[in-house]
Amino acid sequence: TEQKTRQQVWEERQLGNAVSRQDTDEIVIPESENYDYVFDEKAMIDFTSDNEDLYSETEEVEEEVFPEEQKLLDSLEKEENRILSVKESRKLLPVYQYRDKLMKAVKENQVLIVVGETGSGKTTQLPQYLFEDGYTQGNKFQIAVTQPRRVAATSVATRVSDEMNVVLGKEVGYSIRFDDKTTPNKTIIKYMTDGMLLREFLTDSKLSAYSCIMIDEAHERTLATDILLGLLKGVLDQRKELRILISSATMNAKRFSEFFNNCPIFNIPGRRFPVDIHYTLQPEGNYISAAITTVFQIHTTQALKGDILVFLTGQEEIETTKEKIEQISAKLGSRIPQLIVTPIYANLPNEQQLAIFQKTPDNCRKVVLATNIAETSLTIDGIKYVIDSGYVKENSYVPSTGMTQLVTVACSKASTDQRAGRAGRVGPGKCFRLFTKWSYENELEQMPKAEILRTNLSNTVLLLLSLDVTDLLNFPFMDKPSISALTKSLESLYILGALDSKGKITELGKMMCEFPCEPEFAKVLHTAATHKKCIGVLQECLSIVAMLHETTSIFAGNKKEAVAAITSDIGSDHLLYLEIYNQWRDSNYSRTWCLDHKIQFKTMCRVRNVRDQLFKCCKKLKLTNIHESTSTANDNDVISRITCAFISGFPMNIVQLENAGYKTIGKSKGGISVNLHPSSVVFQNYKVNAQKPDKFILYQQLILTSKEFIRGCLPILQENWLVEMVPHMFGHLSRDKL
Ligand code: CDP
Ligand code: MG
Repeated sequence: TEQKTRQQVWEERQLGNAVSRQDTDEIVIPESENYDYVFDEKAMIDFTSDNEDLYSETEEVEEEVFPEEQKLLDSLEKEENRILSVKESRKLLPVYQYRDKLMKAVKENQVLIVVGETGSGKTTQLPQYLFEDGYTQGNKFQIAVTQPRRVAATSVATRVSDEMNVVLGKEVGYSIRFDDKTTPNKTIIKYMTDGMLLREFLTDSKLSAYSCIMIDEAHERTLATDILLGLLKGVLDQRKELRILISSATMNAKRFSEFFNNCPIFNIPGRRFPVDIHYTLQPEGNYISAAITTVFQIHTTQALKGDILVFLTGQEEIETTKEKIEQISAKLGSRIPQLIVTPIYANLPNEQQLAIFQKTPDNCRKVVLATNIAETSLTIDGIKYVIDSGYVKENSYVPSTGMTQLVTVACSKASTDQRAGRAGRVGPGKCFRLFTKWSYENELEQMPKAEILRTNLSNTVLLLLSLDVTDLLNFPFMDKPSISALTKSLESLYILGALDSKGKITELGKMMCEFPCEPEFAKVLHTAATHKKCIGVLQECLSIVAMLHETTSIFAGNKKEAVAAITSDIGSDHLLYLEIYNQWRDSNYSRTWCLDHKIQFKTMCRVRNVRDQLFKCCKKLKLTNIHESTSTANDNDVISRITCAFISGFPMNIVQLENAGYKTIGKSKGGISVNLHPSSVVFQNYKVNAQKPDKFILYQQLILTSKEFIRGCLPILQENWLVEMVPHMFGHLSRDKL
């Protein structure tokens, strides 16, 4: 029979006519109260395996346990031995056996690639070895370790400070955007996001504070990592004593070596147990329900020892999946052993991250719901089952339209194999792929695409220009971005006023680089402080920009109810954010106000911190306004000024109403159709309250899920604002009228 591709099934599902077991009457997870949880054959997801079918097996398999590991586990039980155990456990990691050889290789080579299985100890151990071998010369120099993700930087720093028995933020610290936990003259090992180290080039182009720099998870090929590699290549000759370690999962290592003039690759052999791979017999139309079903299939048929790791694509999806699993297990009550569901995604607040590392209590099973962050950057002990949706959410940028969107795409074979490997760290494991074997063999790409090839390069280009890298075409990129992507970014930087017509960086451009946020937001703040059309709204814009930076939900529960309790008539998401922030500020930043209004207190505290830092930066750049505003958000003048400030920062993010709906504009003719996201207050106003739609809307985010959605919407009440704020882009609007 003909195999449908996953893409087809996925599209059909979006159109509402997918054939998926999950959508039929045989649905596995019923809503009824008096449901008796039995797996009948029809409801089960069929998996097939290359090996013997282990799936129905219920007996516990005899597990091979390394004797040393068992010893360690026993000693770990005793709390009084904890610190000792942490020290001892360091010696059990695969990397320990190679300590001397590794340190010799570091001594002899300015650049060294280190390759090893996830969990072998690269991230936590190598920086400690460097410190122990005197590379910091007391605390004269620091060791920097970059991570592509914030969560990885903070959690690893926590772990290492624990291993070294020091307070986090002193000898061992981390630095991520808006959150710096390091102490000057004290911190010797500094975990940081790759983006933060990149920014340090602005203040010290030789990175002279560091004697060693470890670019970790280099195989992820994030934009910041790629640029760092290029810049570091230029520093090598100027700083002969500097040591660079590039650590990577097995894939790609050769390319890094070639990039650094064939520097040596040090391979740390890992240990890995066999993982049985199972595929679905048919493509799944809804991987979320399929994942939930599979969790319960595993939980009810497999021996209790062994936690489950589920790969999904994003925060929202993870949160809803968590809720569903918890609902079902609450209904099942004591009929099943307890399930502990812990989410992990890039922006999960620090205080919630630690749950994934906590040891699973007896008679319970842990289910970790993760994005691809758990693919290589985090090691979670005790995972025996992996459920892989086979999807990942990534940025996708189309230079011809200048638009970036977040898209859910099938992940690569390399990623899928990494994910499966997570099941075989503590013993033999199983991986359930929610797609077919045919799909694996015929549809998946070999490797993920480097971010530099699929993202908006404006920020990077601006940063490089401010570092005096003017010859962009000859910059050592590992993968050269296309000329059209580079041109497009120069063009949009010109529109923002960051570059002059000759492509030279302007004073405004330099200022935009100083801000710890995207140049677009920096432009909003700059305009708010300086433009005659925006007088007096810097404070308001600071609050809105800070709120827009918060990636976790500020609402504790139902958003609509929370909004209704705060205000009855609000015209845009931006003004809603402002109103929330102002009311909270007026309550003297009170926790009670948050509780009463169903707003997350901790989230608001983070917003306040971000706002303070942005404000500090404004003050440093002398952008603070003399005219302090006292008016409220309902004041039409304030609305117009705020809108103008945002137009100047985001002229590319504007959609126009045409017959059927909104379409993107910009230079290219025939934009794409977009929908207002139902979570936006503008959607509510138009669709539910039947207000007349405005002709233009500015948006903060374009997301492609089942449709193209815009989020963070700000209606532009008067067309002439566009012409006045960005004449070289919207000049035609006034001409068209004539
Ligand atoms: O970097 P790599 O994947 O090679 O390994 P690692 O992150 O250094 O982790 C080494 C070991 O440290 C893991 O196997 C975990 O047992 C432990 N670890 C932990 O318990 N908690 C963390 N936050 C990080 C690591
Ligand atoms: Mg690591």
